[in-house]
Amino acid sequence: MAEALRIGIAGLGTVGASVARVIAAKAAELTRQCGRDLVVSAVSARDRTRDRGVDLSTATWFDDPVELAKSTDIDVFVELVGGDEGPARASVKAALEAGHHVVTANKALLSKHGLSLAEIAEKKGVLLNYEAAVAGGIPVIKTLRESLAGNSVGRVFGILNGTCNYILTRMEAEGISFEECLKDAQRLGYAEADPTFDIEGNDTAHKLSILTSLAFGTRIAPNDIYLEGISNITQADIRAAAELGYRIKLLGVAQKTDSGIEQRVHPTMVPTASVIAQVHGVTNAVAIETDILGELLLSGPGAGGNATASAVIGDIADIAKSRPGFQHGPVFGRPVKELKPYKKAQMRSHAGGYFIRLTVHDRTGVFAGVAKRMADNDISLESIVQRSAGSESEKTVILVTHETTEAAVRKAVDGITRDGLLTDKPQVIRIERAD
Ligand code: HSE
Repeated sequence: MAEALRIGIAGLGTVGASVARVIAAKAAELTRQCGRDLVVSAVSARDRTRDRGVDLSTATWFDDPVELAKSTDIDVFVELVGGDEGPARASVKAALEAGHHVVTANKALLSKHGLSLAEIAEKKGVLLNYEAAVAGGIPVIKTLRESLAGNSVGRVFGILNGTCNYILTRMEAEGISFEECLKDAQRLGYAEADPTFDIEGNDTAHKLSILTSLAFGTRIAPNDIYLEGISNITQADIRAAAELGYRIKLLGVAQKTDSGIEQRVHPTMVPTASVIAQVHGVTNAVAIETDILGELLLSGPGAGGNATASAVIGDIADIAKSRPGFQHGPVFGRPVKELKPYKKAQMRSHAGGYFIRLTVHDRTGVFAGVAKRMADNDISLESIVQRSAGSESEKTVILVTHETTEAAVRKAVDGITRDGLLTDKPQVIRIERAD
């Protein structure tokens, strides 16, 4: 049997502890699958005394993850520290430069520095695996990078943040507040260290930028993502969506258009009957549309210790099975120098349907004024509903448009605002085509 694969884990939080526990508990099965033993030989974590439910007494402890990354006593460095700079970046770089394979769950790091790290991995002939970085336990990286070879992707979209989906699901099902749901997501270990990364869409954007590169063979372009989070979504939006046959999801969408690639993260109305609308709670889902296969939908646990650990262990097992000359392909599906430059499609050209909720003065001519601004901007309406807004002097107007452009909607809503018809901020939510 080949020699044991020596694993160094930096970060023993929810995910790291889960990885160590599963490797210990499933040791015999992993050995059968990989043809060699997997041994956690070194770790780095701030707290050495915490009970993590696994015996780590034979592992060497390092205070500094960078020192662990450089150690000659490991074959694989597993980075579970988090953050796009600091110890995470320094340790991954040091490990690759030392000729170690790396496994990471760090989407922020890959989104920002993935290409330069991939270049080091290419130069050193080592693997940089990151299945856990996108959509938790769902094997979407392997699917895009390996299983869909030869397919051309037209659109990839999905629910990529468990915390947001958990919050939106509970807000809809139980009518409870955003804040209460967020607290529970934090308690359950779904949320990022800074939960604004979840709710403002940054975490989804990090993941989307990686999927975009794999899907379209382009360089990673995180700064070209249109970004809107869910903190402005109210019970009024959720109820109106339900009445109109939609459900609100935070989606990341990357799509080829005539003018380039659209990358956008925003709350989205999806038809209640669509498959993606049935994805509830912390579950993630990724839809991939290609020319050969058609549409593929992957769904599964998107956050939490065990879901993420499952993907990390799969990556470690791939390394254990790899042999020089028999390794998987390049980190982002193509050698870094073969990745195409990213060409951004402008958000104002985005075409689609829109949900617009307006709180207006209840007086003669307001409804006509709203309709005129729509007509002036060539926006055709699928439905228009007016109802009480809870106060005598106000009404709520809900419009659903046929396909139009972002530019037209922005112009119409700006015009309505300038006309003095509104008593509150307008709400605009894009509608996404989904089967
Ligand atoms: N905070 C992330 C989420 C964890 O809620 O999906 C997984 O990346």
